Amino acid sequence: MSKSTHSSSPDSPTPSTTTRSWHLGLVLSAVITVVIALLLVHFDTYDPAPYSSDELAKKPVFEVPRANPLVLHGSEKIGEGRLLGPEDILYDPKLGVIYTGCSDGWIKRVSMNHDSVVEDWVNTGGRPLGLALGHSGEVYVADALKGILKITKNGEIEALTDEAEGVKFGTTDAVVVAKSGILYFTDASWKYDLPNFALDLFEGRPYGRLMSYDPSTSKTKVIARDLYYANGVELSPEQDFLIFCETPMMRCSRYYIQGEKEGLIDIFIDRLPGMPDNIRYDGEGHYWIATPTEHTYEWELARKYPYIRKFLGILEKYLRRPSVEKNSGTVVVDLDGNVVARYYDPELKLVTTGIKIKEHLYLANLVQPFIIRLNLTQYPATAPSTTK
Ligand SMILES: *[C@@H]1O[C@H](CO)[C@@H](O)[C@H](O)[C@H]1NC(C)=O
Repeated sequence: MSKSTHSSSPDSPTPSTTTRSWHLGLVLSAVITVVIALLLVHFDTYDPAPYSSDELAKKPVFEVPRANPLVLHGSEKIGEGRLLGPEDILYDPKLGVIYTGCSDGWIKRVSMNHDSVVEDWVNTGGRPLGLALGHSGEVYVADALKGILKITKNGEIEALTDEAEGVKFGTTDAVVVAKSGILYFTDASWKYDLPNFALDLFEGRPYGRLMSYDPSTSKTKVIARDLYYANGVELSPEQDFLIFCETPMMRCSRYYIQGEKEGLIDIFIDRLPGMPDNIRYDGEGHYWIATPTEHTYEWELARKYPYIRKFLGILEKYLRRPSVEKNSGTVVVDLDGNVVARYYDPELKLVTTGIKIKEHLYLANLVQPFIIRLNLTQYPATAPSTTK
């Protein structure tokens, strides 16, 4: 407080007194807020777990041969205002449409011609996330609220499964259909529902499962349990294995469906430069793995110290989700698990699917009201020397 503030004429009200009491009030409310926050953090039962030192020792690999770090430049928005939180994208080449599941329960169909006409197709009454195309044109849905659904070509909904081994799914997340007709799918967390996904990530305990469903027997089988936010799943081109992503671990693993290693699980790619969400094979030798956020220094700290994650969790529970996302986009990985390219943008938020269809990259996301399309011929990822 400077002396000059009350050197004004004697008959004016004394600003120093009002300023001082205003400051006092501010300090007092700040102290009260901090005390309440500390009490909340102390007494709340939310109790994040430490990560293993092996896990903490891993450093993400940011150097990639090629990158497009400004994906929004030159991109178009598709279905703006009509596609709310389009989490996944499924391409049906026969119909020439893409399907996407929205936060209002609608599975929308978007024509792939120049007009990109959006059609309300089916409303699941839940929150459709992962989508897969069946062998007769039916669509399988991993619905966060309703489990695995089948939607016939005519739009009739059939609920297939929503629990395994007596444990109900909490956030059914992604699904694929093998040639055999068997569905493989993930439940990200039996403990937390989709609106609370961040609490799962901050807690740092494995509540996810990889499962299969056989339509010929109606049996649901648990393939792997204790997974860290089991997210995207995709089949290899030969269908000898499938790949599933564990978001907070920044890794994707292989589960062998057939052959010598049948039934085994190993790591396909570890130390991704961001947290993986959905994974899509492009039919041309590359997997496209969406990253809702890049790996950040802040998250590295939070991973190290459970108390920071507890604090973030309390913020999330009682105020709002702290924004920790950065440089969202997609990484491109070859058949051997090497990252060969990255597409991202500082302005992109919570990208959940990146998929290459013909000449374009399509990016879906959890929260924004559109899909992004980028002409890859025009705006390719380039070697670092030329991106700067
Ligand atoms: C993509 O960009 C290339 C190069 O500018 C152009 O030749 C092509 O027509 C574009 N593709 C589409 C589908 O617009």
